Amino acid sequence: MSGLRIAVVPGDGIGVEVIAEAVRSLLAIQETSGKRIDLIPFDWGAERYLREGVSLPPGSLERLQSEFDAILLGAMGDPRVPDNRHAADILLGMRFGLDLYVNYRPIKLLQEDLCPLKGVTKLDFVVFRENTEGLYVMMGGHLKKGTKDEVATEIDLNTRKGVERIIRHAFAFAKDHGRTKVVMADKSNVLIHAHDLWQRVFKEVATEYPGVQASHLYVDNLTLQLVREPQQFEVIVTSNMFGDIVTDLAAGLQGGLGMAASGNIHPGKVSLFEPVHGSAPRFAGKDVANPMGAILTAALMLDHLGLPEEARRIDNAVVGALEAKETTPDIGGALGTKAVGGKIAARLRAGAS
Ligand code: NAD
Ligand code: IPM
Ligand code: MN
Repeated sequence: MSGLRIAVVPGDGIGVEVIAEAVRSLLAIQETSGKRIDLIPFDWGAERYLREGVSLPPGSLERLQSEFDAILLGAMGDPRVPDNRHAADILLGMRFGLDLYVNYRPIKLLQEDLCPLKGVTKLDFVVFRENTEGLYVMMGGHLKKGTKDEVATEIDLNTRKGVERIIRHAFAFAKDHGRTKVVMADKSNVLIHAHDLWQRVFKEVATEYPGVQASHLYVDNLTLQLVREPQQFEVIVTSNMFGDIVTDLAAGLQGGLGMAASGNIHPGKVSLFEPVHGSAPRFAGKDVANPMGAILTAALMLDHLGLPEEARRIDNAVVGALEAKETTPDIGGALGTKAVGGKIAARLRAGAS
């Protein structure tokens, strides 16, 4: 095997700090497994944008497609770029330009104490968020901007192809991973055109998976159920914006944004892996950000790239660190970002997991 080539884009704020720790874990895996993992850094983010006016350099998507197995990204977002232009160009640019239609956000409770809900001891479900359309297509506009008569629109774009492929992916995942239930969440009681499409496609695709129970919740009810009884869920599929919101809530259930991992995937093509959290500017440069979400994201990436054993070792090292209370303050610990990353890398090197 020639090894893996990973494009590493730390980005902004705490993205830089947490990705440094994910890289340490990947290097520890490389050393202990003999599997070659080449990590090639890219300086895309606010600094470069402010310095050179360049967000996603021309030709980047082609380069990622032809030269890399995956992309590992930290976060994009900087208060010095108030309209978030660079983040849209880079992050949404890759999601859209590489057609990464599956936003895969697994929710796993790695330690009982991390869930803020009483009596919840186990959580293991997956949210599939449509990632290339919906309210994210940036089709809209202003009329009479800045006047009292201003009109502003944003279009919720849903295509038959886009809705079908994410729903089909959710059912196929359930079938392949021994999950018995898929819940689709929409707002078809109000969005009577766009989400009627979700209703029809969901029912249609469900008939192809008789072994999987298909049910529907309006997204407002889904948020309630996620707080009342999150253990009931196995696989959730939803639209881009609803998936964004619901997965921050779900991250809260597993200990907070510092614990949540994700993949932006086009099956069979170069895909992008990132923690669910953003650049948390207030925490940046203070060595307080939790690196576990980024480290678990590296594991998700290895699993996706055909190294499940190495992914499992990283997951186990994180669980080991949680059990030993080698954690950052957001989840009750007293260590800094670097110390937590160092402890996890040391566990990987010691073969303790
Ligand atoms: P955020 O995720 O950056 O932070 C929200 C809060 O979550 C923080 O104040 C902090 O309390 C907590 N948090 C997040 N990550 C943490 C970590 N690793 N360890 C400990 N606590 C953590 O969201 P925000 O404040 O809404 O957004 C800040 C910037 O990040 C914005 O510019 C936003 O657009 C951007 N953003 C980027 C991404 C991405 O690149 N994928 C995702 C979300 C937000
Ligand atoms: C996420 C983020 C992004 C999104 C932003 C930064 C564009 O919140 O990955 O969850 O809304 O998708
Ligand atoms: Mn989000």
